[in-house]
Amino acid sequence: METLKRTKIKALLSEKPGIEVLAKGWVRTKRGNKQVKFIALNDGSTIANIQIVANAELFDEELFKKITTGASLAVRGKLVESMGSGQAVEIQATDIQVLGECDPMRFPLQKKDTTLEYLRSVAHMRLRTNTFGAVLRIRNQMAFAIHSFFNQKGFVYLHTPLITESDAEGAGDMFQVTTLDLKNIPLDKKGNVDFSKDFFGKKTSLTVSGQLEGELGATAVGEIYTFGPTFRAENSNTPRHLAEFWMIEPEMAFYDINDNMELAEEFVKFLVQWALDHCMEDLQFLNDKYDNGLIERMRSVLGIAFQRVTYTEAVEILEKAVSDGVKFEYPVHWGTDFQSEHERYLVEKHFCKPVILIDFPKDIKAFYMKQNEDGRTVRGMDVLFPKIGEIIGGSEREASLEKLEARIDELGMSRKNLEWYIDTRRYGSVPHSGFGLGFERLLLFVTGMANIRDVIPFPRTPKNAEF
Ligand code: 4AD
Ligand code: MG
Repeated sequence: METLKRTKIKALLSEKPGIEVLAKGWVRTKRGNKQVKFIALNDGSTIANIQIVANAELFDEELFKKITTGASLAVRGKLVESMGSGQAVEIQATDIQVLGECDPMRFPLQKKDTTLEYLRSVAHMRLRTNTFGAVLRIRNQMAFAIHSFFNQKGFVYLHTPLITESDAEGAGDMFQVTTLDLKNIPLDKKGNVDFSKDFFGKKTSLTVSGQLEGELGATAVGEIYTFGPTFRAENSNTPRHLAEFWMIEPEMAFYDINDNMELAEEFVKFLVQWALDHCMEDLQFLNDKYDNGLIERMRSVLGIAFQRVTYTEAVEILEKAVSDGVKFEYPVHWGTDFQSEHERYLVEKHFCKPVILIDFPKDIKAFYMKQNEDGRTVRGMDVLFPKIGEIIGGSEREASLEKLEARIDELGMSRKNLEWYIDTRRYGSVPHSGFGLGFERLLLFVTGMANIRDVIPFPRTPKNAEF
């Protein structure tokens, strides 16, 4: 069998009949009668299975007993035109080898219609399902598209650290990194934890964002992007929050907020278009199975300009909605941070297209955002998408040393840990901007999955770090 080279099923399905082939994969289903068995084999290269036709005369009865859902096989045979509907070719098997048996009584995916919730409890096996095969292939395509986009534009891929001393977003929801013995914590004279004894000699955490280091890169080589994991210890059990998620953070010297908005819009449109161009089979499957508005919704964001609106205008729209009888769970007035229900109202009910919100109250945004002349707003921007809400957060950065220092002091932040960052404003400061795209939020949009736990292979959420 091994003298023949294995061909992946994706390639086999577009081969011409008549050739001798070797396929390897996992059994999805087996059916048939005494004379002939039909085995659907999948190897993950495509959502489609290849049908194996096995004439019972040629094989041992014992062999067929081992061919159960989930078992792995190597199948040699002739690629022939398929009589059945649904596929152009199938394999007329001459040799079948069971590589790994799969106990049908214990295999976690034996049930026919397994809910997404159940599948999360067997996340180590759920990757074998059609749904997660599709999600993983789309996720892979999107990662490649991200690198392609920035590579074409001459951005430098910058690797920023995961272990950090600074809390970039100022939210304080960080996972501490320590090698101190938790049963015997060293204390200083005042009774506080003595971090000088810790691995790094200081208190460190997992990063919430690569932005601050990204700014160092942008103010050196002009345009950079990061693409890596980020960690937030916020106790948000929502369908849109993970404790460990991936973020793409471009940072550009000499960009103002308008350049920033333009890039963000071009970027997400490029990614959605890429998914439509490269993932149609998987999209069609997800569209049919989970969300029959998926493909249409993806197309709907492409041909139009995103709506740009200030936070203040958006508050007026939302207040008017409330006075017209729209019910929100959370109150909304100038100064509040929007909840996803407010964001979705703006996108899905009011403007009926993606929205870029700008000019937020400074008190609800991070210290680094450029302060507007009015003294009360900052030049932040959030891109809001249908069904998701916020998909991108970013801003023009405060380039003035004096204003940045004043804001850090005003917020009572420690300047000590930030001197290196402030140096960007001391030595050749330039106007610059950037944003962060939540990779899994993007994936929610391009897979139609409703829960963020279903677009990352091994989700990390409060009380859940299994697998
Ligand atoms: O709006 P955020 O907090 O912005 C930043 O971190 C900036 N440093 C980005 C920048 O300007 N370079 O996060 C950016 C995006 C959000 O819009 C959202 O898509 C995603 O990251 N995000 C999350 N995704 C999943 N789970 C979470 N807990 C997330 N928190 C933020
Ligand atoms: Mg944000």
